Amino acid sequence: MAHHSCTNTNTSSNETFDQVLKRGLKDPSRRLLIKGGVGLASVVTLPMLNACADSESTPSALKNLPSSSLLGFSPTAKSLLDSVVVPAGYTVSVLHATGDRLRSSETAYSNTGSETDDWSQRVGDHHDGMHLFYIAANGKVSATATSKAVIAVNHESSADAHFLHATGQTSAGITGKKFDQFGTWDLGVRPGAQALKEINLHGVSIAEVTLNGSGQPTGVVLDSALNRRITPETVMSVAGPAAHLNDIRDLFKTKFDTTGATSRGTLNNCGYGYTPWGTYLTCEENWATYFALPTSGVAANSKLTASRSRYGVASSPLAATATKSSSQGWYTVVDLPDTNSRFSRWNISASGASVTDDFRQEPHTFGYCVEIDPADSTSTPVKRTAMGRFAHEAAVCSLPEVGKPLSFYMGCDSRNEYIYKFVTTANWDAADYGGGLLVGNKYLNEGKLYVAKFNSDGTGQWIELTYSDSRISSYNKNGFTFAHQADVLVHTRLAADAVGATKMDRPEWGAVNPANGEIYFALTNNTSANRTPLTADAANPRSYADADGKKSSGNPNGHIIRFRETGSLSTATTFSWDIFLFGAEEDMSPNVNISALTANNSFSSPDGLWFSKASGICWIQTDDGAYTDETNCMLLAAVPGQVGDGGAYTFENTLGSDSAYITTFVGGLLGATRLKRFLVAPKGSEVTGLTETADGKALLVNIQHPGENTAALGSAATFTFESQWPGNGGGLSAGYGVAGRPRSATLVITRADGKRIGEA
Ligand code: FEO
Ligand code: CA
Ligand code: CA
Ligand code: CA
Repeated sequence: MAHHSCTNTNTSSNETFDQVLKRGLKDPSRRLLIKGGVGLASVVTLPMLNACADSESTPSALKNLPSSSLLGFSPTAKSLLDSVVVPAGYTVSVLHATGDRLRSSETAYSNTGSETDDWSQRVGDHHDGMHLFYIAANGKVSATATSKAVIAVNHESSADAHFLHATGQTSAGITGKKFDQFGTWDLGVRPGAQALKEINLHGVSIAEVTLNGSGQPTGVVLDSALNRRITPETVMSVAGPAAHLNDIRDLFKTKFDTTGATSRGTLNNCGYGYTPWGTYLTCEENWATYFALPTSGVAANSKLTASRSRYGVASSPLAATATKSSSQGWYTVVDLPDTNSRFSRWNISASGASVTDDFRQEPHTFGYCVEIDPADSTSTPVKRTAMGRFAHEAAVCSLPEVGKPLSFYMGCDSRNEYIYKFVTTANWDAADYGGGLLVGNKYLNEGKLYVAKFNSDGTGQWIELTYSDSRISSYNKNGFTFAHQADVLVHTRLAADAVGATKMDRPEWGAVNPANGEIYFALTNNTSANRTPLTADAANPRSYADADGKKSSGNPNGHIIRFRETGSLSTATTFSWDIFLFGAEEDMSPNVNISALTANNSFSSPDGLWFSKASGICWIQTDDGAYTDETNCMLLAAVPGQVGDGGAYTFENTLGSDSAYITTFVGGLLGATRLKRFLVAPKGSEVTGLTETADGKALLVNIQHPGENTAALGSAATFTFESQWPGNGGGLSAGYGVAGRPRSATLVITRADGKRIGEA
């Protein structure tokens, strides 16, 4: 164990260095570190022993940043309540929740699963990324008029769709199930009415909000002309670089649109972005698991199969004897008409004569940033293929500078995936504000796509993903080769593989610090299969056992990395980086709790990440399974410093019989005044999605999937609920909706004293 070895070697730095060298020679990866990484001299001067100097104290190698008076609330304690917990003086209400109607033609939500409509006019489920847009009298988005607003909310997943049906999800004689698209369902014919609800709960809801006298959102304006649902059935246009658009559209051709100029819908809408010209970007994350490749139908060609495999799409037909499959079986529906192949499109078998006779290419139509004009409910959303195709977590824009290109930073949310950026060809012109999707064509169709490589010396490179790179044009693996730049944009993960990008501990949201333009990324966690003491690298440096074995070893608590572009230029191809924060339980060894978290700010699995423009506070949200024996997921407030405000730091990873030292770069310690837990969520939920009113006096926060660990309906036909929030009123100023089943919801958080959220 790390601190056991410390007790034996806590004598001098020379002995420490001897130990580093000895272990380094024993272990090939450490040899690399010493030879080619930070170099011998810096290893000698690195204070690796400080981590072990006192296993219960702050690692003294790391600077304490000066205390801050910005955060003016008492930290919220860890909580296991089925309730939203916030500091004294704050009030929480619900803006909207799963199933709320957007039109008076629908019935009020029953919360019993009795709805007979198809959910296309209701707020979706699994609230995720969101943004509040103000609308001026001329009907366009506005940065100054604050008397009218719409809230755009992503709806990520159907993993809890059993709550939407009276007796849970059913298929062919099997009732009361919970079909998780990340798991399996019992093969059998699905009822069409259930499938339609499950399809339409995804996508984006746009709702005009009622504003009180203080300009704070209080609810939904029923029947507003601005209200809109964008779902997996909404037609979208396919856009991309003009020089490659024909090749891109070839890859989008299906029986639905044999030209590939349009595609249908958006799926698994997780993180988000918004553009300097006032549009919304919804990002398609774990879309791969919705497709099925049943036994019937001809197998696709080897290139298609290799691409499917790399993206996690079903790549080999089911065995004839299979009784279970992934996906939710929407393709099996027979009791409703298959209008426009709305059900059969989820079957990706090559059953027809060519790509325009079936849906073998349907997975190519997902995995993008989709641009939406929140001010025009009749506009056609656009798939921005120039930004690449992967498990798009979010897209955050650099600080716009007039006359310079814009950069959008994007994570691919799967373990060992990459961080990308898209740099526009067009230079930013502030006069483009309010120009909607036409302006989007100007900025988001032409540009360069890069992937990040993090070096062990605290620098990094953006590697352009271009067919003119011989590593890409000569790539040939499992039958996959790139034919042109369209292949790079549609099979981006493989292009990033080819150029040696750095595998990260599962990139979640990114955020840009409005004070200095530095970019932050949450790396939520990773497993021991991917991250061992011998495969850890400087940017993903920890590999250890979860404190109480609740989760896989590896990096169960995650970290937040940040970087600064060289010269602070969005067009830079190099950057410097350090690790802003390491998630940890406060009682873990200093080798794990490197950020010296205490009971007031300990956290695990950072996911949502967002800076308030009003206060400059960095807000951190968690989606965790490793710390949930002690606390539900949470929202923390941080006062950031800047890249390089800490220093190089060496510590020891210990896992099983593996033990190895690693050197990384860690930001200054935030301490008790610069990092505080603000909110703890109800049971079984994640905290995700953040936006604010223009004055920063109302913070909107999403609670996703409370009660996610509620078992499927059993023979008793009653749920044993893990959570019944928000119907139980937990932590709310007023009850919300019909009590009973748990629902995802958007919170509005305000202060009794009317000050900005979080500030002193
Ligand atoms: Fe949908 Fe990456 O969380
Ligand atoms: Ca603990
Ligand atoms: Ca997320
Ligand atoms: Ca744990």
